[in-house]
Amino acid sequence: MSVRVGLIGAGHMGRTHGMILAQDKRVEIRGVVDVQKERADALASALNARSYPTLDDLLSEGIDALYVATPNTRHLEPVVTALGAGVNVFSEKPMATSLAEATLILDAVKKANRVYQVGLNRRFAPVYKYARELISSGKITPYSAHIKMNRGELKTPPWVSDTSVTGGFLYESTFHLLDMCRFLMGEVDVVECVGRSNVYNELDNFAMVLRFKQGAIACLTSCAHSTWAFPFERVEIFGNHCQVVTEEMERVAYSSGLGQPIVVHDYFQLPVQEKWGYVEEDRLFIGAVLGENAPPVNAEDGYRTVQLVEACYESARSSRPVSLA
Ligand SMILES: NC(=O)c1ccc[n+]([C@@H]2O[C@H](COP(=O)([O-])OP(=O)(O)OC[C@H]3O[C@@H](n4cnc5c(N)ncnc54)[C@H](O)[C@@H]3O)[C@@H](O)[C@H]2O)c1
Repeated sequence: MSVRVGLIGAGHMGRTHGMILAQDKRVEIRGVVDVQKERADALASALNARSYPTLDDLLSEGIDALYVATPNTRHLEPVVTALGAGVNVFSEKPMATSLAEATLILDAVKKANRVYQVGLNRRFAPVYKYARELISSGKITPYSAHIKMNRGELKTPPWVSDTSVTGGFLYESTFHLLDMCRFLMGEVDVVECVGRSNVYNELDNFAMVLRFKQGAIACLTSCAHSTWAFPFERVEIFGNHCQVVTEEMERVAYSSGLGQPIVVHDYFQLPVQEKWGYVEEDRLFIGAVLGENAPPVNAEDGYRTVQLVEACYESARSSRPVSLA
């Protein structure tokens, strides 16, 4: 059986997923929708699929799975509509841009009893899989972490500086690293966050202290007005005289102890779609639709990371620590 897939949002991520899915023999790409018809037409043509004017038109064609790659605040409507029609959904991050909307999606997933996966691709990037393996195998017990996620700018695509479309800067790339904190160190207990507005017309500079239920503590800084100087994303985790450090999704270094050699894995030469985890997340989503594997990132994960973003904003607004209990 092949999985009949539709895509909504024919921009950067719609194209990224479309081109990966086109290589998967288990997939038949049926159609593409975008509010900009020429974008839907161009991607449909590249994928040997049809362009549809609306999501309802695409759904009435009969699809098994929908990829949602519209901007952040435009996820809710297609996700809930597709689930309501009994269609499995892959949604780009973030799941939603408020807890109320994330709850609507959680409820829709439960009611539909379909696969729902959030595009938290970094969980499948080799650098982060390696770090997680070091932790789950007991080679490192995280006591402390130092994390940064900067953006060079909020200019491309143009909607990323419009909070009515992004939901706020923390729902942009920082969302991935807040999720990565949970992936590597477990659930957050308390967050203290300071936010500033320096360059853009919103809070664009954050310093956070995260306390985790399992005991680790972490500092995370994230600003929207850096440059793209490498590495704009970096995670350093420290244990008992051991550490693991990532640089982007290019390189990871594991120092196992005092006086020991440092093991480095360098993924520079891998295609971006593999080293950023997109190929594996798409393969596992299609596998989950076919019942071959469990959905690897479920609605609960999406919800909890939205909860963490909201806690950061609340702490920044109130100048108080916020508990996620
Ligand atoms: N996982 C990642 O690494 C990653 C990277 C970049 C972006 N993203 C996420 O992917 C999503 C899309 O980002 P992008 O960079 O592809 O943006 P983009 O601007 O390149 O593409 C978005 C597309 O959606 C279309 N669109 C907007 N509103 C629509 C609607 N209501 N119905 C149908 N089409 C609509 C636009 O015309 C555009 O073609 C965002 O949620 C973003 O946060 C994830």
